[in-house]
Amino acid sequence: MFTLGCDRAYLYGHPERELITDEQARYEDALAQRSRGNPAQYITGHQEFWGMDLIVSPAVLIPRPETEHVIEKVLACVGRALLSDISVRIADVGTGSGCIALALAKELPQAEIHATDISSAALEVARANASRHQLEPRVQFHETDLLAGMDPGAFDFIVSNPPYVGESEEDQVQLEVRKFEPRNAVFAGPSGLEVIQRLIPQARDLLKPGGWLVIEISGTIAGRVRELLADWAGIEITNDLQGIPRVAAAQKP
Ligand SMILES: C[S@@+](CC[C@H](N)C(=O)[O-])C[C@H]1O[C@@H](n2cnc3c(N)ncnc32)[C@H](O)[C@@H]1O
Repeated sequence: MFTLGCDRAYLYGHPERELITDEQARYEDALAQRSRGNPAQYITGHQEFWGMDLIVSPAVLIPRPETEHVIEKVLACVGRALLSDISVRIADVGTGSGCIALALAKELPQAEIHATDISSAALEVARANASRHQLEPRVQFHETDLLAGMDPGAFDFIVSNPPYVGESEEDQVQLEVRKFEPRNAVFAGPSGLEVIQRLIPQARDLLKPGGWLVIEISGTIAGRVRELLADWAGIEITNDLQGIPRVAAAQKP
């Protein structure tokens, strides 16, 4: 499909189709890159998330299906009101490809959404994805450290899939991730908690009372994250489809 720029139906419909020289070269180049461990998404430049086709480059983490649980949690917290009528202010911290911010922009057409990242190269990809899905006017992008420079007390939701892997667990991380995905998107510091530890108090300053912090986590740090949120209200940690603690949510008292 990538080599011919076609869909799956075309492949099934034209089993007799032979590759011309240029196509063969493109196919072999993709295979060679893949055999060196380069993720397929960086070769094709695409990954699906929440039903949207997103552009990805080695400047951004490849969006993972587990991260869709963050979107589900936000929509559950928003409640039963008609999603199209809800006007909330949301900040997505460490937006990467923009996947979380754009999925929420799609689901909550009245929401005001801000997305931050410390990487200008990542923000370029996120902006391209916003434009690709006609969501440019809906998301404001900010190049900043976590939530620096954002208005205090202004948000109903702060959401994030922050870097949360510890350098001490590096050898348990797939080689493909270590070798090809951006290091500052994956690793937070020696323990894995370093970014979340800074994010929680900043989020507390920026949320309205009753506002929600919804963050992606791993099983390794779930207990520590629960401790860090001990003086918040309604803390809930939900598991992903593999039964691994994946999303922590809590309300500013
Ligand atoms: C795990 S990736 C998540 C990307 C995207 N939100 C997703 O779910 O696929 C973490 C992102 O946080 C960004 N990041 C790392 N440290 C940051 C910081 N101090 N402030 C803002 N963004 C940061 C990285 O550049 C990366 O894009």
